[in-house]
Amino acid sequence: MKKVLVVGGAGYVGCVLVEELLAKGYSVRVFDRLFFGRDPARQFLDRVELVVEDMREFDESHVSDCGAVINVGGLSNDPTAEFNPKANEELNTWASIRVAEVARRVGVPKMVFASTCSIYDRGVGEDIHDFLQDEETEVEPKAAYATSKLAAERAILALADDRFTPVAFRKGTIFGFSPRMRYDLVVNAFVKDALSKGKLAVHYGGSMWRPLIDVKDVARAYVMALEADPDLIRGQVFNLIGGNFRISELALRVQRILTDLGVRVELDVDYSYRLVRSYRVSGTKLERALGFQPKVTLEESVEHMAREIDRFGYTDFSHPRYYNIEWMKLLEESVEIVSGHGYVLSKPSVTIEVPDGEFMAGASSGRGHRIG
Ligand SMILES: NC(=O)c1ccc[n+]([C@@H]2O[C@H](COP(=O)([O-])OP(=O)(O)OC[C@H]3O[C@@H](n4cnc5c(N)ncnc54)[C@H](O)[C@@H]3O)[C@@H](O)[C@H]2O)c1
Repeated sequence: MKKVLVVGGAGYVGCVLVEELLAKGYSVRVFDRLFFGRDPARQFLDRVELVVEDMREFDESHVSDCGAVINVGGLSNDPTAEFNPKANEELNTWASIRVAEVARRVGVPKMVFASTCSIYDRGVGEDIHDFLQDEETEVEPKAAYATSKLAAERAILALADDRFTPVAFRKGTIFGFSPRMRYDLVVNAFVKDALSKGKLAVHYGGSMWRPLIDVKDVARAYVMALEADPDLIRGQVFNLIGGNFRISELALRVQRILTDLGVRVELDVDYSYRLVRSYRVSGTKLERALGFQPKVTLEESVEHMAREIDRFGYTDFSHPRYYNIEWMKLLEESVEIVSGHGYVLSKPSVTIEVPDGEFMAGASSGRGHRIG
C-alpha cells in the first residue's frame, strides 16, 4: 500500500483529505504542527502516523518511505499572512519549497502543492478586470498571501523532471463541513450567521465573483492527482474549482436551503463600497487533463454542513478556533503569557496538601488534592 505524507493533515482541508485517502486504501502520515489542536483529527488518529513538527524543519526522515506528498500546510488566508508576513513567507514559500526539494531528493515521485485562486484577485470596480481567468492569464498579486503562494508554485514546479512530478492546485474558496471547522470562509460564514443570528450580511450588494468548491470535491481531486499519469500533470498548475458564483447568489441559495430546513434567515444587504475580493476563473484545464468534475452541489454541502455542525456540537460559533486570524492572535498572546510556566491553571505533577476541615469550593473531602 502506498504511503502518502500529508503536510497540514490536521487542518480544515487536511482532515477531510486524510479520510478520503484512508477510504481509498492509502496509508497516511500526517505532518502537522497542530495549531488547531489534536481534537479535530481524533477520528483518524488511530489509523495514521502523526508527526507533530514544524514544516520549517522538514527533513528526509519525514518522507523517505512515501510514494507521494500533499502539502496543505501553512498559513491559509490574507489576514494571517498580513498579521505575520515573515512567518507567512517562511511557511508558504520557503518551507513549502523545502518540502518539495526534500521529497525530490529522496526519490518521492509525486507532490501536490496547495495554492490558491486568490492569485487572480483584481478587486472590484473596473469592468476590464472582470473576465474569466485561466492558468495562462498573467497574474500580479499584491497581497502577502497570494504572493507567497505564487512564489512557492513557481519554485516547486521548476523542480519537475522525469522522476519528480510536482503539481500545484490553485483552489477556489472552499466550503463544507470538516471536523476542523472554519467559519471564516464565505459559505461557511453564511451558514454560521444564519444558524447563530438568523441573518446574512451581504456587503457591496453581493456583486463580487468568487470561485468556490466543496471540501470533499477538493479531497477527491487530490486523490485523482495521485493516481494520474505523471505525463498529464507534471510541472503544471491547475485551477481547482466547482464553479464561479456571485456572493449575492450564494446568499440567496444558502437562505433558501436553510429555510427549507426550517431555519428562518433574513438577508441584510448593504451597497456601500468596501475592500472586497472579486475574481472568476476557469476550471476546464483540470477537467481536460483528469476528467475532474465537481460532484457536491452547494445545496448538498450546506445541508450536510448544518447537520454536522449540530452533530459535532460546533455551535459555539464565536469561539476563536474557527477563525484563523483570531486564533493565531490568541495563540501568540497566550504563548507570551504562559511561556515561562508552560501551564495555565493546572501545575503538572504537583500535589497540594489541604488541611482537614478547611473549606475548598468544589472539593468533596479535606484530603490532599492533586493539581494537574
Ligand atoms: N480553505 C480554503 O478555502 C483554501 C482555498 C485555497 C487554498 N487553500 C490552501 O489550502 C491549504 C489548506 O487550507 P486549510 O483551509 O485546510 O487551512 P488550515 O489553516 O485549516 O490548515 C492548515 C494546517 O497546517 C498546519 N500548519 C500550519 N503551519 C504549520 C507548520 N509550520 N508546520 C506544520 N504544520 C503547520 C496547521 O496546524 C493546520 O492544521 C492551505 O495551504 C491554504 O492556503 C485553502
